[in-house]
Amino acid sequence: MRARFPLVTLAVTLALAGCATSGHDDLAACASMAAGGLRPVAAERTERFLGKVQDDTARCRGGDKAVARSSLPWMDWANYWATGDAGSRAKGAGDTIGHLRSDGRGIDGALFDLEYQRIELIKFNLFDNSGTYLDYVRGRGGVDGAAIKVWEVLRLPPGHADYAKVGGDGPQLCQGDLIRFRTLTGICNDIRNPLMGSSNQPFARNVQFEATYPDLGKTELARNRHGDRLSLLQPDPQVISRKLFTRTQSDPDRCRAGQGLPGQSPEASCDYKKAPFFNVLAAFWIQFMTHDWFSHLQEGRNQTELIAVGCVSERVGNVERPLSAAEAARLGCRPDDCADRSLVAETADPPTFTHQGKTYPARAYRTTRNSITAWWDASQIYGYDDISRRRVKRDPSDPAKLLLLPVGQRAGAGERQGYLPRLDAADPIAPEWSGQEATGFPDNWSVGMSFYHNVFAREHNLFVETFRRQATATPETDSGLRNPARPDHGIAYREVTADELFEAGRLVVSAMIAKIHTTEWTTQLLYDEPLYRGMNANWHGLIQKHELAAAALEKIVVRSFGRSEDAKYAAKWYSVFAAGPGIFGLGSRVYASDPLFARLDLPDRDTWSLTNPDHVNGGINHFGSPFNFPEEFTTVYRLHPLVPDLIEFREFDRDPNVVRQKVPVIDTVRGKATAATQERGLANWALSMGRQRLGALTLQNHPQFLQNLPMPRLAAATGVLDVPALDLIRDRERGVPRFNEFRRQYGLRQLTRFDDFVDQRLAQGAPERAEQARIVGVLREVYGQHRCDASKIITAAQVNADGSLITDCLGHPNGTLVDNVEDVDTVVGWLAEFNRPHGFAISETQFQVFILNASRRLFSDRFFTSSFRPEFYTHLGIRWVTDNGPDGTVMEKGAPNGHRDPVSPFKRVLLRTMPELAPELEPVINAFDPWARDRGEYYSIQWKPRPGAEADPAFR
Ligand code: HEM
Repeated sequence: MRARFPLVTLAVTLALAGCATSGHDDLAACASMAAGGLRPVAAERTERFLGKVQDDTARCRGGDKAVARSSLPWMDWANYWATGDAGSRAKGAGDTIGHLRSDGRGIDGALFDLEYQRIELIKFNLFDNSGTYLDYVRGRGGVDGAAIKVWEVLRLPPGHADYAKVGGDGPQLCQGDLIRFRTLTGICNDIRNPLMGSSNQPFARNVQFEATYPDLGKTELARNRHGDRLSLLQPDPQVISRKLFTRTQSDPDRCRAGQGLPGQSPEASCDYKKAPFFNVLAAFWIQFMTHDWFSHLQEGRNQTELIAVGCVSERVGNVERPLSAAEAARLGCRPDDCADRSLVAETADPPTFTHQGKTYPARAYRTTRNSITAWWDASQIYGYDDISRRRVKRDPSDPAKLLLLPVGQRAGAGERQGYLPRLDAADPIAPEWSGQEATGFPDNWSVGMSFYHNVFAREHNLFVETFRRQATATPETDSGLRNPARPDHGIAYREVTADELFEAGRLVVSAMIAKIHTTEWTTQLLYDEPLYRGMNANWHGLIQKHELAAAALEKIVVRSFGRSEDAKYAAKWYSVFAAGPGIFGLGSRVYASDPLFARLDLPDRDTWSLTNPDHVNGGINHFGSPFNFPEEFTTVYRLHPLVPDLIEFREFDRDPNVVRQKVPVIDTVRGKATAATQERGLANWALSMGRQRLGALTLQNHPQFLQNLPMPRLAAATGVLDVPALDLIRDRERGVPRFNEFRRQYGLRQLTRFDDFVDQRLAQGAPERAEQARIVGVLREVYGQHRCDASKIITAAQVNADGSLITDCLGHPNGTLVDNVEDVDTVVGWLAEFNRPHGFAISETQFQVFILNASRRLFSDRFFTSSFRPEFYTHLGIRWVTDNGPDGTVMEKGAPNGHRDPVSPFKRVLLRTMPELAPELEPVINAFDPWARDRGEYYSIQWKPRPGAEADPAFR
């Protein structure tokens, strides 16, 4: 049954008349879809949307093609009009995309589907491990679980240094110095839940607790699903790595397992599958981000106990058998590799509780901790606890700045901005970090990390210098900053202390990073029009050009839905309506009167006040579940295939079209990174990584050097480690459900056989399709098959289309030999997804995890919502983040993909920190698109040189 919603969501501009470019059938389908009304949000987990629409809806939004593909397991929106490149647009469509035309219906329909997914993800996929789940399920004091905003377990405990400051054993509220800036350990972001998101809080989950740790066989469903086929080393992780992850080499002697050739000769070559629309800067960017968001290790260490990492058995002819030394050598794996066991917080089985006759575990079977702050607070740069902060070096001549030192005599206008100093003997470090740059998070260092830490240290210092110049020019002017101890005293520029300016700089750098990630990195990772609009909606709002309407919606969202005790408004409608004004800055203005009129009379009608905790904290929403990343989030960020083995090194002041050397990434790992960055120069690395394509996220595409990474600290006989194999072990240690159950838990359709991975949109006989079929054959060989038993129910997360329960046979006849698709490690599964929406560098399974968590880390953070204010950021800081820098908004030339946009935030950062790159960056629209690529027409992903780059060998 379809219910009608009285509210029109923002993405719903699906008015259905006057479709000039539609065929007759499409129009009839639109009418039929409209008559049916909108789909209700699922009441039960088993009734979820799954990204699948009815035939009339598919036809209205994408014509016959969309209907034909709707039987596939993948989400339907990617088949709608205008969601791909120019070829996906309806015939006869003009340049503009009107909401009423086919293309407009396609894009709006896609946004609409994505919003449904987000609503259902918020509703069904939040599981907190810190002890709040009981309240979430039962509600508390008449308030629905999803509307609860304060939790006992997030109070600072007695003995915490700030216990008394927040109210001790009375009601706790962060105040004074604790609310002014991002704190070192991340406490007091949410001023009523001081511990939330701080270092060492438990990782959350996005899957039902019962679905975690399938290897332990704790439930009948898990035992039915996997039989006795799973354990930490089964299927063998190193065998999986060698068979399913290794990059095949056409000329192994020129690659030498990622070591390249002597002298870093440009004749070296390591083959890898490349994504044509995403560059190596983007690969290291995301590693730089993960170092801000989560880590399972403490100071680069796991437990001291060592474990084996496989290379002991393989499945041959569907039978698991031991691997002989000769077979191990043939595969290239090493039985003597070892790793350190993962840290665990709680190992005892969880307590349970009952609600309405059903028993629930109060947490997952095991828990782990996020050793760094979960906030997007640039903690990888500035630190996340006392130890890491001791590594962060400030400039003694101006302690508001990070210490940057000039290096060498190289040309380049950015060079005088300097480089980060090295860690010194007195710094608290793990031995393997010695010789690296001094920074908060130094683990897994390479030239990529070195690059970003230097760039954003320069950005920090440029903010400080600009502020200082302003202070010299207008010392008595109000800086915007306020101290809660004297809220009425406007702090003049000259009064701002070095510490205050340092912390304001951190706020600005964090917000710039979040903006770059949301509006620039992600829109290139997911290079199509719906995601361009969706990501910009997260930041600026869908209706950014209609300020009054946005302000009115903001008031509804924050004041009405945000304060509701009813889950429907506090969670579901909150997220939908927030897309109007955008999440960023939500609640940062509070109008005494109706916003429609207040906007005409700004700023004096904005009554936001630092003394009002409801204003300071008023824009956040955790949807009833305290914010931290889920374990599943780490899984989908295991993106090691992005990294090439060799970097094609170029120089900006000689001909940038010439590749001068091929530098093995392994030659830039740990301490070697610092020398590489400083000796060769930041701008040359920017150019080199900016022009080179990164590795596609697919099977048989992991870097060879990571399969053979030297790990001195493990003192293994081999001296090296297969990191891709370790990726699998870590997920197994942390109880991530295997791929098919993972998808079902996230509200995606399951697969029923390995062949479902093959992209059915490709023509039969196409070489690409044949290659996919070959890899699917390897999957079957590795994971095997079994005779199925239709009496075994395997999941509670979904049912079949006819309402029947899903069994071990996955719809195949009882007793047939079925693929062990249930056993596939989740990383292997999403790498095997060959069917992806246009321009997606990631798979739809990974994307589903991002839809939920990428918006949550904005929704939950007051510095990105109600505390995005000059009282914290300074006036200069607010302008810097809003305009992408200090010189006001600068518009990009033309209208790429039909949009008139400002020069992108990362391009502006690059231009500031390395002005010598100006000629190279001039034609670049998105700094994560390979710099010499011609972006062509509407979302083209073709690999063609832009004018002037024809001689670049990368295009040969
Ligand atoms: C030179 C490049 C890189 C090196 C040397 C490297 C090395 C490693 C190693 C050794 C681990 C295992 C840590 C452990 O569990 O004991 C790891 C984990 C991980 N790596 Fe990488 N990596 C690199 C690049 C990347 C990139 C580009 C990404 C992209 C996001 C990435 C994402 C991750 C993630 C998500 C983990 C899991 C972290 C955790 O469990 O908290 N790595 N890496």
